[in-house]
Amino acid sequence: MARTENSVTFLRSDYQESAFSIKSVKLDIALNPAKTIVVNRMMVSKKLVGVNSTLVLNGQEQELVSVRINDEPYRGYELTPETLTLHDLPDEFELSITSTCAPDKNTSLMGLYISNGNFFTQCEAEGFRKITYFLDRPDVMATYQVTLRALKTDFPVLLSNGNLIKEEELGNGWHAAVWEDPFPKPSYLFALVAGKLTAIERVIKSQSGKDKLLQVWVEAKDLEKTEHAMESLIASIRWDEKRYGLELDLDRFMIVAVGDFNMGAMENKGLNIFNTKFVLANPETATDVDYANVESVVAHEYFHNWTGNRVTCRDWFQLSLKEGLTVFRDQEFSADQMGSDSGKAVKRIEDVRLLRQVQFPEDAGPMAHPIRPDSYQEINNFYTVTVYEKGAEIVRMQQTLLGQDGFRKGMDLYFKRHDGQAVTCDDFVAAMADANHKDLEQFKRWYSQAGTPRVHVKESFDGNTYQVHFTQSCAATPGQDKKLPFHIPLLYKLIGTDQVGQENLFELRDEKQTLTFKGLSKKPTLSINRHFSAPIILDFEQSEEELLTLLREDDDAFNRWESAQKLFIQAILNNRDLDPALIEALRSVLNDEKLDAAFKDLVFTLPAESYLYEQVDVIDPQLIHQSRRKVRSQLALNLQGEWLKTYQKNSSTESYKADAISAGKRSLKNLSLNMLLDSQHEASQKLALEQYQSANNMTDRYGALSAMVQNASGYAKECLDHFHQYFESDALVIDKWFGLQASRQPELNNPSSVLAHVIQLRQHPDFHIKNPNRARSLIHAFCMNNPGAFHQPDGKSYQFWAQQVVELNEINPQVAARLARALNRWKQFSPSYQNHMKSALKFVSEHKNLSSDVAEVINKALNS
Ligand code: TRP
Ligand code: ZN
Repeated sequence: MARTENSVTFLRSDYQESAFSIKSVKLDIALNPAKTIVVNRMMVSKKLVGVNSTLVLNGQEQELVSVRINDEPYRGYELTPETLTLHDLPDEFELSITSTCAPDKNTSLMGLYISNGNFFTQCEAEGFRKITYFLDRPDVMATYQVTLRALKTDFPVLLSNGNLIKEEELGNGWHAAVWEDPFPKPSYLFALVAGKLTAIERVIKSQSGKDKLLQVWVEAKDLEKTEHAMESLIASIRWDEKRYGLELDLDRFMIVAVGDFNMGAMENKGLNIFNTKFVLANPETATDVDYANVESVVAHEYFHNWTGNRVTCRDWFQLSLKEGLTVFRDQEFSADQMGSDSGKAVKRIEDVRLLRQVQFPEDAGPMAHPIRPDSYQEINNFYTVTVYEKGAEIVRMQQTLLGQDGFRKGMDLYFKRHDGQAVTCDDFVAAMADANHKDLEQFKRWYSQAGTPRVHVKESFDGNTYQVHFTQSCAATPGQDKKLPFHIPLLYKLIGTDQVGQENLFELRDEKQTLTFKGLSKKPTLSINRHFSAPIILDFEQSEEELLTLLREDDDAFNRWESAQKLFIQAILNNRDLDPALIEALRSVLNDEKLDAAFKDLVFTLPAESYLYEQVDVIDPQLIHQSRRKVRSQLALNLQGEWLKTYQKNSSTESYKADAISAGKRSLKNLSLNMLLDSQHEASQKLALEQYQSANNMTDRYGALSAMVQNASGYAKECLDHFHQYFESDALVIDKWFGLQASRQPELNNPSSVLAHVIQLRQHPDFHIKNPNRARSLIHAFCMNNPGAFHQPDGKSYQFWAQQVVELNEINPQVAARLARALNRWKQFSPSYQNHMKSALKFVSEHKNLSSDVAEVINKALNS
């Protein structure tokens, strides 16, 4: 631990086992919004008998009422705002602590809080310490028995982890429920829910024939939106049984939806708590993207039951142990749900797009960290795309190196060794290595070194021998100047040779290495890093001709897509017109009957601006924005005839089906509509209006609305008004209404109009800054996902950003700290932007009362 002026830095190397263990916890909680009383009785023991150690418990934002040891009052404690220290303790004792907290004042949404009149908890990472005094660290694992008491009329449903043992009527209209979780768990997996909720239920038989009760709890009005979450849960249970032989271990598994939530969802043992956005779905209110997100988040949280809960993290530096692995598992699950091979490729492309758009910039900026960080000031800031998505890539590479069967052997050994334990990333890799007798020592650098490796590829051919020369490097990141070579699995195939091309695995380990192929009569076309087998930046100058060959012929759908992306990037960055040969190749893609609609849609999705920023030394955001738009307009105009045909071919009058094939057709249809509007096709305005009015599902309705808003259609205003009025009572749809307006592309002759509009919407009666989904739908959407509108040379958006960060900082540090990252890459921008960004960062940093969350982000940006 290192203390500077106003921040404390925690180091991975400082890890020490706790001197005390807590075997069991009995909580008795009297729920009252203004003052909740918590009685916490713990069985505590020293790990080294007879040693006189002090016990330092964590606790925040509570009023301490009393401390008792073995039922005797104990006064020899010291209390600070964040700790309770006890001295001269016996080897084993019952520690009973009574304290109170105020859930109705809790706007941080960590610990115990109120949302729409109901009680919820969020304890990961360090929220339990806001509920009671405890050793709030993941390697302290205890069994929990929880008694909940509350007024029955206001809080008829009382839920906690595990099994329901008892329900009881108390006097004065109060009632109680007793829950028992038989599995020892860290405090971050504790949860309670109390309030007016109803559930849909299903009973299924697990693989070994046991009955399991599944419930999805929501407010009564949302009951008809729970079917998809329930089906996703059942599919997840089946998948984990089949792929990994892992069964649900409790008799009951509950999902609860809450409208105020900092993140996506939380894997509390037997009682998963979800942001409503990732539970509720029906065809009228949820898009295909929402359906897919619900499926993958339900799967993610369910999979945590084994990867996270049964085997948990020793300390928070090991977060990727559970998150990287569980994201990998949910990605594989979602890919398997797609059915076809090209469907799987679509899922892979979407995951890689996210990685490049968000994780690559993070890995190149002031917050860059290895997937297993070495230090942090605020752990909440490390629930990042690096720990999650890059972490999943590191797990995926192990599967690529070991094969799917070898990876399964490693998983089996991991559970055999570590079930019931709190372990490290090294333990995971050791299980993989030992089960397969494979040396993964060098591979472990992926856990310790930050930054995206760059692999430079150069070919040579002399009429017989074909060689591929690899050079790897990795730029410096904060605290890491020099990097050692990574162990990089590269899947490749030679295309257009007389030798039958086969996919092979090349393991790049050295800084420089060469692959040699003899006896070739002509130079092959190299398809490298197939399926994106390694999360790297590939520096490989292939000719346009070769890229077009790959676009037409590669049997790896990922690289087919990738070759088009490369050609787009070249055109955008050089501000060049698209080559007629590329347009013809793309025309064939669009007309190819054998290709999935979803794949075609992705081929025409241009690289995100944030990814384009990573391709240049100095960012001129407006230049990139305009140039990207120009390329898009060329696609729209040159293929106008195809867009109309594609639109018609993919329109359907059938009732809504949520499957991947139907969803792909809708996405391609909506892309076509967008292109038609962009190309100012005369019929397109009416087409969009008609689709908006006659849609029988949200994907089509929102798709039409979005196309009108993005292309400044004359009907946009009246449709936006109608949309708001029609869906007024549905919070998640109103989020879309805000989000769409915040994501609108700037008008070319009035580029600051989006900011003006956002400022106006900020005052809208439906805008509630305390609700994270609503705040994100407007503020984060504008500042983080609409770079073309946000980065204006007058710097006004940056002032807006700074004010919002400061305001959110008081309400909810986690939501504020996410937004605070928007200017992290400021040093890469051209000087005129940089100056405005720097003043905005300074404005925030000089604010009094900055949370540790926001302070860490802003200071690291300013000191970069
Ligand atoms: N463990 C959760 C997940 O990935 C993440 C999470 C949910 C979280 N809510 C949080 C992390 C609040 C920090 C704070 O599934
Ligand atoms: Zn997770």
